[in-house]
This record gives sequence, structure tokens and C-alpha cells, in this order.
Amino acid sequence: MSGSIPREFINDLLVRVDIVDLIDSHVPLKKSGSNFVARCPFHNEKTPSFSVSRKKQLYHCFGCGVGGDAISFLMDYNHLDFVEAVEDLASFVGVEVPREAISHKGGSDKQELSDVYHLLEQVAAFYREQLRATSEGREAVNYLKGRGVSGELARDFALGYAPKRWDALLSRFDRKQLMAAGLLASNDAGKVYDRFRGRLMFPIRDRRQRIIGFGGRVMDDSVPKYLNSPETAVFSKGREVYGLAELLAKDSKPSRILVVEGYMDVIALAQFGIGYAVAALGTATSQAHMDLLFRFSSELVFCFDGDNAGRQAAWRAVESAFPCLRDGRQVRIMLLPQGHDPDTLVRAEGVDGFVARVDGAQALSDYFFDHLSQSVDLGAMEGRAQLLTAAKPYLEKLPTGFFKEMMFARLRELSGSPGLDVSSNLATLNGNAGSGKRREGLRLSPLRVLIALLVQNPDLVEILEERNLDWDMLSFPGIDFLRDIFQIITVKRPENAAILLELYRGTAQEKTVRALANLELSIPDEEAEFKGALERLVVQARESGLEQLLAKERREGLTTQEKEVLRKLLSNKL
Ligand code: UTP
Ligand code: MN
Repeated sequence: MSGSIPREFINDLLVRVDIVDLIDSHVPLKKSGSNFVARCPFHNEKTPSFSVSRKKQLYHCFGCGVGGDAISFLMDYNHLDFVEAVEDLASFVGVEVPREAISHKGGSDKQELSDVYHLLEQVAAFYREQLRATSEGREAVNYLKGRGVSGELARDFALGYAPKRWDALLSRFDRKQLMAAGLLASNDAGKVYDRFRGRLMFPIRDRRQRIIGFGGRVMDDSVPKYLNSPETAVFSKGREVYGLAELLAKDSKPSRILVVEGYMDVIALAQFGIGYAVAALGTATSQAHMDLLFRFSSELVFCFDGDNAGRQAAWRAVESAFPCLRDGRQVRIMLLPQGHDPDTLVRAEGVDGFVARVDGAQALSDYFFDHLSQSVDLGAMEGRAQLLTAAKPYLEKLPTGFFKEMMFARLRELSGSPGLDVSSNLATLNGNAGSGKRREGLRLSPLRVLIALLVQNPDLVEILEERNLDWDMLSFPGIDFLRDIFQIITVKRPENAAILLELYRGTAQEKTVRALANLELSIPDEEAEFKGALERLVVQARESGLEQLLAKERREGLTTQEKEVLRKLLSNKL
């Protein structure tokens, strides 16, 4: 999506905005040394570890590790996607996003999209009217009453009724737009007709309260029981959940979100005052679903049937949760008693009983280790090794952080394998942390200092350019990364660290560059330090190059090309 907004425009925005002003307008900042600080808005803390740098145009929290530029801040703080954050930032700065360049989905024209949204609203209003004011609709109302759904709830969820006709919509609305909105179907003979007929209608909204599709339920035993809108330019099942808009309208920061399976589960729970449930739309809960929901709440409780299929679905949800589990986020799993869904259970056990079950839902960590331990014999070394083999790949998917460390600690304990290597996690943790204590033991090689300084002050590239290095002669681990950053900076000339970071968004190196941008170096004279580190690096490279070539010469002799390199190294021309 980022491709549809011109790169220059994003750069320009990041030059115009001052991240200190932007963040200060959401979270009041205090000056502290050369930075600005506040208590972190992304986790609970008593003393401020959230710091904003005017020079780098970046923010970073030493407590929970979040960090990024003005765009990332808006994405995280206001739960926006990239394009939305750019739009908001543009309006903060007071400029207009180049319109024609923006297209939210698959190249459709913006006007056409807003026509589709508009049509979906009109159709929902039509269905509501049918429910309220027709004799056919009466049946639907009675059906709802029979299932214990009040008029108030039906209104909150904007429930409607699609009449039993082939052309209720076709005869009223524009055919092309109906098609684009997914409201028509066709048979083999090519006859086109209304997709939803004789069904109770559930409008599906996105988190910005726009209607994007429908689910429709029959009121007898015919099949399919539920029919959903197909994927359209505005509706993607894998990314949306039912009930989120209705939830957010009542509570924009729910302390937990319950994820259930069905439309009627969401509605029945809301009827009982449990307004924090959403339903995946007949698909497995995906990582995109979790990313979406974690924007609004730090705790997700997944509800599954207690039967085999339910357990399988629970395990799939656990699997897709791992990459999302940053520190401070929690997933719990709730298995329902056999033969119940949340709708029937809340009616059988009442609110208190149901909520007690939600409160008692098993933490993902427990569920995960229980599940894996079930099939192995932890009493035997072989079984413990199996557990290790099965668990490790999952744990490696966890984002760096304390939760990851604790999961590894638990695995070490269960598998009786104290030597299990988690150093990669610890190294990155230390690298991200800025507080003096945690930085002890972190090796700051000249290369690391050099790259960090360069990322934080892209202007230093001039020193590198003046030095006119013969890159081909330099060989040591990490050189490609330095060279890559050097080239990007020479070509793109980013004004500050934030703009450089934005150039790496979505790439494999994004994380590393961000960690380096956030590294607290506390170096008084950065230019002098940069020059010094550069010279140390060149000397190191020269010495190791010389050593290698001289050894090879003694062993087997050198090629003409190698002799040339040796000559250069000896004459100190690097
Ligand atoms: P269920 O069959 O468990 O239905 O499907 P339910 O939610 O309990 O519905 P009621 O109580 O009988 O009204 C769960 C979900 O699976 C999807 C729907 O999203 C449904 O809410 N589903 C089910 C379909 O998409 N199509 C179907 O034919 C059935
Ligand atoms: Mn049900």
C-alpha cells in the first residue's frame, strides 16, 4: 500500500513535521537533557522511559521497546494503517495527500470505492426498513424475539431483513454498483439476481464504522444456514471481524476482547451486557485479525468449541498468535463445554457464570506447553527432546522481549535443558535497551558504532564520501550492511534518521536499522567519534587483509589480482 503514496511526499512530510510537537499533542512531553520524555503511552509505568528525540525525529521506549517515526507513532497510538497514518500526519502538518496517487485496494478508483460504501449503507437501510415495516419482516422480528434478541439490540447491530425476491435490490439500485458491492449472484445460464433472499441480515462494519458487507441467516432449516458477502474491493474476510465497530462505538479501549465464532454469539453476549465480543467471519483467525484486535486491546480471549474441531481451531489460533505476542499483549484460550456455543452457554449459565469462565481462560503459554506435553513423555529424555524440537520453532517466532525470554525459560525447565541457546534474544534485547545497566556487556564494535552513528546522523555520510573508501578491499562481517546504508544515504539523501528508517519500512533490515537508530550512544562529539571509528575499522580491515594474503602467499602463492590488492594494502592505500 505504501507504494501508492509518492515516496517524496512521505519524505517531505517527515521533514515538515516535528515529532516532538506531534507526540506532545497526544502525550504531554517534558524536556530532559536533549530529549523529551513522558510516561510511555504503550505500556503501564510509573517513571517515564518513553523518549522523543528532536534531532533523530524518532521516539523510543526503553521500557517496552516500542519506537519509530511520526508515522509509526500515529499507526500505533491511533490504531491506523500506514495510509491512514500518512493522511493524518498530512492533516497535522496542513498539507493535502496527492489524491490520485492514493488507492486503498487493488487499484480501484477512490470515487468508485466511496460509491460502494455509500451503496452498502443504502442497502442496509433498505434491509432495516424491510425488517421494521413489512409483513415478511415481522417473521424475522419474531425469529429474533424467539432467540431472545431485543429491539434495542437489533437496532444497535442494525439488523435487517432481505425479502424473498430475486430483484428486491436489482429493481432499486444500480446494477454495476450492486455487483461491485458483492450483493448479486448469477447462475450458470448467466441470470443475475439478488444474493441475499429471505434472510435475516447482519451488516458487517469495519473499525471506521463503514458497512463493508453482510452476513445473512435463514430462519428455517434450509442451507446454507449463513451466507456471507464475497470478497470485494472493500471487504476481506481475513482482515475483518464482526462486531468490532459496535464494540468500539461503546468502548474505544476495551480491556479485553473475546473472539467467538458466530454472529449470533456476538449478539447474544451483547444482549447479556457482554459487549466486548467479536466474531471471525467464518474463517480461521488469522494473524491479520490479531494484529487488528491488538490495536484496541492488549488481551484477546479466544473461545472455541470443546470438541475435536474446536481444539484444532484453538491450536491454529495459538500458532498464528506467536508473531503478534509483543510484551504486554496477552492471548488466552477458552474451551467451551461440549454442545454449547457462547450464545447457548450464556443463556444456560448467566452472565456471572460466563464471565467467570472468561476470567478463568487458560493463558496461551499454559495452553501451548500443555498441548505439546500431552503427546510426549516428559519422564524420558527422548520425550523431553521431542518437546524441545516441537516448541523451539514457535518460540523463535515470538518478538524479542521479556515474554520470549520467559517462554524459553519455561521450555528449559520443562525439557531439563538449561543450556538451551536463547542468546540471540538476549543480544537483541540488550541492543534495544538504552538504560546504562542493561547496556553493560553489549559489545560496541567500531563497525556497530559507525553504523549506528550513520543511521542517527545521515549527514555523516559526507565523511564517508570524502574518505573515498575502496569498498572491494574491505572485507569483514557486516561490511555489506554498512555499504548498503551508505549507498541508500548517498542516493536518497534522507534529512534525518526518521526518513532513513521510513526507507527501510517493510524490508528485512527494518528491525536492525530501527534498533541502531534507537541505540543510546551518549557520544559528545559524534563527528570525531565517527571519524575515529572509521579509521579503526580501516586499520582492522587492512590488518586482517594483509594477514590473509601473506598467509596465502606463503602457502600457495597469489594471483595477479591478489598481488595488486596486497600492493595496495602494503602501501596503505585504502
Ligand atoms: P454456526 O453453525 O456455529 O452458527 O456457525 P451459530 O453462530 O451458532 O449460528 P446460530 O446460533 O445457529 O444462528 C458459526 C459461524 O460460521 C459461519 C458464520 O459466520 C457463523 O456465524 N457459517 C456457518 C457460515 O459462514 N456459513 C454457514 O452455513 C454456517
Ligand atoms: Mn449458535
